[in-house]
Amino acid sequence: MARYAYVNGRYVDHREASVHIEDRGYQLADGVYEVVGVRDGRLIDEEPHLDRLDRSLRELRIGWPVARGTLSFIIRELMRRNRLRDGLIYMQVTRGVARRDHAFPTTPVKPALVLTTKNMKALAADPGPGVAVKSQPDIRWERCDIKSVALLPNVLAKQSARESGAYEAWLVDEAGCVTEGASTNAWIVTPEGELVTRQTDNGILAGITRGTLKVIATDLQLKFVERPFSLVEAKRATEAFVTSATSFVTPVVKIDGETVGNGKPGPTARRLREEYLRFADNGEAVT
Ligand code: PDD
Repeated sequence: MARYAYVNGRYVDHREASVHIEDRGYQLADGVYEVVGVRDGRLIDEEPHLDRLDRSLRELRIGWPVARGTLSFIIRELMRRNRLRDGLIYMQVTRGVARRDHAFPTTPVKPALVLTTKNMKALAADPGPGVAVKSQPDIRWERCDIKSVALLPNVLAKQSARESGAYEAWLVDEAGCVTEGASTNAWIVTPEGELVTRQTDNGILAGITRGTLKVIATDLQLKFVERPFSLVEAKRATEAFVTSATSFVTPVVKIDGETVGNGKPGPTARRLREEYLRFADNGEAVT
């Protein structure tokens, strides 16, 4: 368990850390968050994550709780205090504390800032046997591009997947297309050798890992295509995988119990995972 959390200006014992009961994040899910991966004491893609935080905040008209440079400092300080080597930084900003009312507070409130860290086992270049996913209807709102803490549909989809022994839920829209995972972006490799992931718009979160892999895939001269793909197409794919700040590139070998490709992590996913880890190992060490 991490020793410290950061809560509104103070580094506090993680077990004692708490927010006000009238925090709008707690009562109304009126807040946003970011998860930044940490590998070997290095932050992965910090700047793009802070750019996305900025965008989420602006979309919801929540101010920055501290200056961006200060947040970078807090991230590093918490990593050092918790001796974080491998795992993640979680940061959350809510509109702040005010008497409960759906509309924004009429008097100025200070946005609330909370940071925690989580130690995790360092992911190996070898992806192991791969994971299973389970399809679920995508019942979320129309602003999935905002990294909001309102995650109930994602929670229910993930739980349903876990109860059926799957690692992740793949969310499927009314047209039968896979939008993304409950907490990951979804990718396939077609029998024609195209590397496909859905285009970014309001229907999905523009994953930072996804963005970095797009650059890597282009450098590797893979046939990278951004378009919708159906669940049926995914089940006929030669490879499938998910990406996120915490799962990096994780091969998918089963969709709804049906085997993908030869049932083993494929060469594209393996290669992208290796290249992503190489990229992650390049940053400046904090701890
Ligand atoms: N989830 N799509 C959704 C719905 C997500 O919640 C996430 C991240 C992603 C991948 O984005 P990124 O590559 O920036 O991590 C896609 C984080 C890890 C979480 O909620 O814990």
